[in-house]
Amino acid sequence: MITEESVREVIDTARIEDVVGDFVNLRRRGQNMIGLCPFHNEKTPSFNVNPSRNIYKCFGCGEGGDPVKFLMTLEQLSFPDAIRWLADRYNLKLEEKEVSQEVRQERQEKESLLLVNDFARKWFEDQLYNTEEGKSIGLSYFKSRGFRRDVMEKFGLGYAPLQRDAFFKAAVAAGYKEEQLEKLGLVRNKRDFFFDRVMFTIHNLGGKPIAFAGRILKKDVKAPKYVNSPETEVYHKSDVLYGLHQARRSVRKLDNVYMVEGYTDVISLHQHGIENVVATSGTSLTPGQARLIKRQTENVTLLYDGDKAGIKAALRGVDVLLVEGLNVRVVILPDGEDPDSYMQSVGTTAFGDYLEKQRQDFLFFKADLLLEEAGNDVAARTDAIRSIGATLALVDDPLKRAGYLQQFSGRLQIEESLLVSLVNQSIADRRKQAQKEQEREARRQQRRGREDQRSAEPKGRGNRTPPPPPAAGEEDQWAGLVEPSWGDEDVPPMPPPELEDLSAEEPPQTLPDLPLLGHSHQEQHLVYLLIRDGHKMYDPEKNMSIAAFLTANVADVLGDFDHELYRKVVSLVTDYVRQHKSGPDANWYLHHPEGAIQELAQTATVSPYTYSPNWKEKYGLHLSQKPPEENQRLAAEIFLRVFRMEKIDRKVKENVLKIKELAVAGEESRLKKFLKLQSRLVEMRKQLASELGTVVITK
Ligand code: UTP
Ligand code: MN
Repeated sequence: MITEESVREVIDTARIEDVVGDFVNLRRRGQNMIGLCPFHNEKTPSFNVNPSRNIYKCFGCGEGGDPVKFLMTLEQLSFPDAIRWLADRYNLKLEEKEVSQEVRQERQEKESLLLVNDFARKWFEDQLYNTEEGKSIGLSYFKSRGFRRDVMEKFGLGYAPLQRDAFFKAAVAAGYKEEQLEKLGLVRNKRDFFFDRVMFTIHNLGGKPIAFAGRILKKDVKAPKYVNSPETEVYHKSDVLYGLHQARRSVRKLDNVYMVEGYTDVISLHQHGIENVVATSGTSLTPGQARLIKRQTENVTLLYDGDKAGIKAALRGVDVLLVEGLNVRVVILPDGEDPDSYMQSVGTTAFGDYLEKQRQDFLFFKADLLLEEAGNDVAARTDAIRSIGATLALVDDPLKRAGYLQQFSGRLQIEESLLVSLVNQSIADRRKQAQKEQEREARRQQRRGREDQRSAEPKGRGNRTPPPPPAAGEEDQWAGLVEPSWGDEDVPPMPPPELEDLSAEEPPQTLPDLPLLGHSHQEQHLVYLLIRDGHKMYDPEKNMSIAAFLTANVADVLGDFDHELYRKVVSLVTDYVRQHKSGPDANWYLHHPEGAIQELAQTATVSPYTYSPNWKEKYGLHLSQKPPEENQRLAAEIFLRVFRMEKIDRKVKENVLKIKELAVAGEESRLKKFLKLQSRLVEMRKQLASELGTVVITK
């Protein structure tokens, strides 16, 4: 760790105009200096540097701060690394506090491995530019591909000669340890891993060489076209994107990154002025790589070959990007071309035009592709739509997703509601999975906690402290937690915690339980009904929608809603009905500006209605009637009765308590009022219950 004094010294020394000046051309303007902002794309300078206050500020994009912040943002450095960078810039010596032996050793080891790699890079470059073999084989090859010297240097291109131990000998002679050369995969059994190949250096974000790739030049040999450094202490493949170091400034500025497959594609595009480009190196994208991008931009454009493999590649690994919340677009090049060859053949302008014209949203691209493949085959079409739904489900932002849903239903010529339910199914599945995982984790932790407790109190269970009482509204979760479910057999189940305290809080049960579910459940059911069927007709003659029927009939109990969101939805719909004389359809909810309502709508469209199988006896309905799941009008009526019943039932219970209280206190006049109310409520309840066919027992 760097000492506080050292950090202070660096911060006091660093001058904003120097640091910014290393990256941006600054012009003086009065007391300040201005230049083109390195954080966003602009043609007229709005990036200000204020030397007297030692800060910068861009009036275009709002970025601002001190020299350390500038480096951290622009160069993506951690705080300590920014301090180190500045110490280096001003030739200051940093005092480092004692860190643990292990940490220091590991850091030293990594640093020395990076030094070895840097030696290797220089050596490969030296072979390329300064040896006869390198020049005649390697350099002429790169030249034949049209690579310019400055770009070759920028990417650390090199040459590994034919002789199978040339590098090993040179490295040992320069004092590098064989063990480290082996660790980096540069050498195996005193023989070079890379030989007879042109070399590509793979850099980390900070520009240090962490690995290499070598391309074979001979044709018709069995050896692979490219060989790569193995996974090492300094090279974790899944967290690296080729070219990101060279691309990152342009990426931030243009707020987009092109993703190509090949090393040569990256280099070629750079040479032609497209610098916001990285390569996946022919493998599937990883979550680590997606996050790496996310830190620089939210916009990714895949740039792939027009052949089958290229198109497949475009489909592969994209989920990872969507999950990370990135906007993914795709450009498919003409068949037979890769970005490098196409750029070489048409030049920068035409290439840029092509990108502009052909760029399309990835999700549309995928949909078109799948549907085209499916043709008129119904089963294949269904599969395709399902697959599109699953991909859409990965779009986490509800607004974005709603936008897609709307556009897709038109494009796919399927009902939006069907697509919505497919997507929601997929989301629900994913949530369920995530929840299961969470529960598993919770149980693991619970068990761990229990084990800790046991080891802390050897006599254990007898004097175990009771679990803390749940906070209000947490009963359900609590009930879930105490349900013993043991993963490991060797952990004996503990006796479940006593629940007396909990039930004691419930009001005494003076009335029999009705076949009703929890309060919020009914409110939820109401809202679901509104979302799914609210726009349908309840009474065509009176031109009354289900929404109108339902909202009119719950208006008087709206104040008794338990759930704020459900109450809000119902009152919004009430307003809507008043204005439009019809009910809003599912889209209205799905596109509602309020995220919570969108989410509600998404869940509503997938969760099935739950009517008991014996609904006919239960609700005393005619056998000729269609079941409620096929009959919205009936569903609305049944529901409404159940709903009102539940509200009344609750009032009755509250009233009973009040009456008892007043009787004990001997408050005669108020008691009378409540008794009167009670008989009215009981009457209403009886009426409703008989309509529902539920037997009511009054005490
Ligand atoms: P390509 O075969 O398209 O190569 O593989 P390329 O980059 O266009 O190279 P040139 O233009 O033929 O010289 C695309 C990428 O897949 C990885 C490399 O990262 C390559 O850039 N790859 C390919 C391998 O890692 N190993 C291989 O054997 C082939
Ligand atoms: Mn190529």
